[in-house]
Amino acid sequence: MTQRERIINALLDRGIVVDPDVLEHIIKRGGLDYLSEFIEKYGSHGFVSTEILDSEVKKEEKKPVEKSDMTKPEAYEHDWDLQILIDPNSLSSIKGTVDDFASLFQNRFKRLSTLLRRRPQFHSATDIKDLRDGPVAVIGMILDRRTTSTGKIIFTLEDPTGTVRCLYGGESFILNDEVIGVVGSYNSSRDIIYVDEITRPGISPVNRNRKISEPISVAIISDVHIGSKTFLKERWENFLKWLKSGKNGAEGIKYLIIGGDLVDGIGVYPNQERDLKVTDIFKQYEILASYINELPDYIKVIIIPGNHDIVRVAEPQPPLPKEIEKMFNGNATFLSNPTAISIHGYRFLIYHGASLNNLVELVPGISYENVGEAMKLLIDMRHLSPVYGEKVPLAPLPRDFLVIDTQPDVFITGHVHTFTYAKYKGIHLLNASTWQSQTLYQKMMNFKPDPGKVAILNLHTDRMTYREF
Ligand SMILES: [Fe+2]
Repeated sequence: MTQRERIINALLDRGIVVDPDVLEHIIKRGGLDYLSEFIEKYGSHGFVSTEILDSEVKKEEKKPVEKSDMTKPEAYEHDWDLQILIDPNSLSSIKGTVDDFASLFQNRFKRLSTLLRRRPQFHSATDIKDLRDGPVAVIGMILDRRTTSTGKIIFTLEDPTGTVRCLYGGESFILNDEVIGVVGSYNSSRDIIYVDEITRPGISPVNRNRKISEPISVAIISDVHIGSKTFLKERWENFLKWLKSGKNGAEGIKYLIIGGDLVDGIGVYPNQERDLKVTDIFKQYEILASYINELPDYIKVIIIPGNHDIVRVAEPQPPLPKEIEKMFNGNATFLSNPTAISIHGYRFLIYHGASLNNLVELVPGISYENVGEAMKLLIDMRHLSPVYGEKVPLAPLPRDFLVIDTQPDVFITGHVHTFTYAKYKGIHLLNASTWQSQTLYQKMMNFKPDPGKVAILNLHTDRMTYREF
């Protein structure tokens, strides 16, 4: 419910009806915070017209302005504008049969091949069953791949009509299960395509004016890990204190996005209890809720789950369950992982990021130090978790929710506990920071996290900055 709706409901509860201009006046004066003062002054009128308001305001204007009115954060004055583009209820029912996995992959192929067909060289791509000797353009999913002793790649390409072997000696690295287009030459006697060029679905550079007129910002964090012994309580509380103050850069923040791993969970890895300060997962969420419920009511909090949270690990993950949701007040919105939302017209794609581990392991040149490169690859592949059967289980659904159909303006991940920002073809890429210091496991792996940083995207200037706590 928006602030506007809550104000109207509160007024109606007291039998008060107001002109639209009067409603604007209430919002400008502080919204819900101003409501009791407004009701005290005007409640006896029943219907508050602009004339009644004007006569009172004129009297008031002669008085000095109260200090508290001068310090209201800008974010108070604007309504939320949030649209959810992936229905969180559409991804919970799974049966898990082989057929369901087959339809998941068919759906992935269909949607990614449609994107590839928009490229001129694939307008009239050939079905594998119709291949003839000579130049060809084919779209397929990579079934298997191996590197030859001379450094070339041999792979099998599959489409709904058949499979074909391909030989490629170029620079591109390819992964199993990704959908690509190849241009090359088919030899029927050897039943092979000699590939000259590999093309990913990719994106066209985003070139639209996204700036909005209101001075509104979105704060972005991830991986809070409440309950862990290494949860950075003091830095977290300093961040919330700043957010609640509505000052020193926090005045425009109207949304807070949390990209999963809200809590450390239980039983996520062997002997995890040794690393836990709070061993009851419900208690962990209660602690988080007590923090979030203290935030000013003009801040909308958007929450998706991660692999430490209390939902299935298989992706896409449904939103946190109702028993957790009810611990939070109405300002928190619980969505799926991944999710796509529009905030004042900006399209946000938010994914916890489990597949980033796969890319670090499989793709040469990608490491935890340059996770932005992995995010670029996901954008080019138009898929959030391209490799099946590695570390990220997929839920067998008839639709592949990990396909990136619509180009985002902002792509957010977390999970790897680094902090990375890059701009790629006009898209803001952010791997959001964590609130957990180095764990024993990370120490063993010689991995240093980058905690306590809050990314702030100003929707008015289209600029991303950050603040460290
Ligand atoms: Fe995490």
